[in-house]
Amino acid sequence: METPYGTVEPIVGKLANRKVVFMSRHGRDHAIPPHLVNYRANIWALRKLGVRKILATAAVGSLSSSFRLGDLVLLDQFLDFTKSRPQTFYEGGQQGVLHVDMTEPYCTAVRQVILDASEQLGFALKNGACYVCTEGPRFETPAEIQMFQRLGADLVGMTSVPEVVLARELGMCYASIGLVTNEAAGIAKHLLSHAEVMESMKKLGEKVAQLIQVTIQLWTPDQNCLCASANVEVGKF
Ligand code: HPA
Repeated sequence: METPYGTVEPIVGKLANRKVVFMSRHGRDHAIPPHLVNYRANIWALRKLGVRKILATAAVGSLSSSFRLGDLVLLDQFLDFTKSRPQTFYEGGQQGVLHVDMTEPYCTAVRQVILDASEQLGFALKNGACYVCTEGPRFETPAEIQMFQRLGADLVGMTSVPEVVLARELGMCYASIGLVTNEAAGIAKHLLSHAEVMESMKKLGEKVAQLIQVTIQLWTPDQNCLCASANVEVGKF
């Protein structure tokens, strides 16, 4: 699909008898590193396809003993330590300027449905964690992880920002399930590797697939929240 920001490959299908779009942010075969993901093209394409609610997953390292390897965690806040990513659709001029509200970055209504789905499945889904987004593609230093701990971060990853921001700018609900794949650098007793993260993701795959399926069964197409009106001051997209 062509977008003003580049070409993307959404997969449109049906799940739980609802029309869904699957977007692999890292592309096929995980070929696109986090700092080069075309976040604007992905989110723009979803909006154009009529998507109103986004359920994202994100591999995360844990900074806190409250979050263990294999945990599923609903994100509720973020700290942004990215460095080189376009963060907005609103670049001034014709497009206008939007200072989008981020008081509740992750949609509370969608989060509640995911919680209901996890309860129905008997899964222990942890509710609420502060995610720090780093630029990557390298992992963090232990000194950075200690700094993030002092700032209040619970989990670290490389993709939730600006994805969550761009979804809000286009009036879509967005929630993200963090999959704890490793202890963060300096907490883990070993060096970090992408293989460790992928291996943990694979182990959690079946569980996450069930959670997504039941969530989609439970949610309704209407947006009973403020996400849809996040860009009313400027509109346009
Ligand atoms: N750091 C950054 N991103 C990650 C990590 C990590 O430890 N684990 C999974 N994604």
